[in-house]
Amino acid sequence: MTDLHVVPGDLLPPRTPKGRHLLSVADLDRDDIERLLATAQSFALSQARDTKKLPTLRGRLIVNMFYESSTRTSASFELAAKRLSADTLSVKASGSSVEKGESLRDTALTLAAYEPDVIVIRHPQIGAPQLVASATNAHVVNAGDGKHQHPTQALLDLFTIRNGVGRLEGVHVAIVGDVLHSRVARSLIQALRLVGAHVTMVGPPPLLPAGLAPASHDIAAIRDADVVYVLRMQRERMEEGANFVPSLREYTARWAVTPDRLRPGQKVMHPGPMNRGVEIDPRVADSPAALVVDQVRAGLVVRMAVLYDILTTGPVLVETSLEVA
Ligand code: NCD
Repeated sequence: MTDLHVVPGDLLPPRTPKGRHLLSVADLDRDDIERLLATAQSFALSQARDTKKLPTLRGRLIVNMFYESSTRTSASFELAAKRLSADTLSVKASGSSVEKGESLRDTALTLAAYEPDVIVIRHPQIGAPQLVASATNAHVVNAGDGKHQHPTQALLDLFTIRNGVGRLEGVHVAIVGDVLHSRVARSLIQALRLVGAHVTMVGPPPLLPAGLAPASHDIAAIRDADVVYVLRMQRERMEEGANFVPSLREYTARWAVTPDRLRPGQKVMHPGPMNRGVEIDPRVADSPAALVVDQVRAGLVVRMAVLYDILTTGPVLVETSLEVA
């Protein structure tokens, strides 16, 4: 295995040209995914040591712009940058000039004046990362834009499945719940296809968009899967007044992932935040079948890999389409 984690910052190739971004899974091919997962695996080895900090991105600046609440994604991007010795600067919408009416473009231009190497952005509007990419010279990583894309989540999920199940090729993943409002599901379905895995969507008909993947409205369908991937009801993304499910109580009764709906040997994943007792039974969330903590751990090394890749060897990744099913 290449010893990526001992590459000192001084030996990095010169700065890459403008336009290397990770905005969507659609920009990746299977080779990109394999390279990123291998890099993440080698960073995972480095994180098992007592001294976890590597000099790799010393002197680089990573700016995190988070316009939506986040625990795992913002924490792991920040820690990933720090573990690679980059400087970090984190701006949240609340408490910043965004509250005084500053536009995304103006905030991006302001932060670009500090010459960041990478801008990581999460925003409720689809296309916000593209806007930052076109307005600045920084490499941009999409940390979630509306219900569109969340490519680093898909990568960390692939990393978790490969380590938890032992392979990606031929694995069957059932994605359960609110697929309609989920950028996680959209990105993951694309990524699973790229690596030869199969997907079934399971949940109430109004929450399963047509054409993304085969669908079942019967929770019993999860028994056929190797991995049951549970989604939260993303109420903040639902149109006001729209009734996607009769009630949360009914949703839980019909589609919650409970111990009796699983079979032995299945793995359970959830991107978080979990609503225990709604979409996932606490006994499932706390069982050895649950890979939720592994996902969080994978988030750190995968984001280290993405930052490393963008600033060193990766291909030029540019989003081409903004279609949302
Ligand atoms: C997800 C997100 O924000 O898209 N969480 C995450 O990044 N781990 C999923 C969600 O909001 O339900």
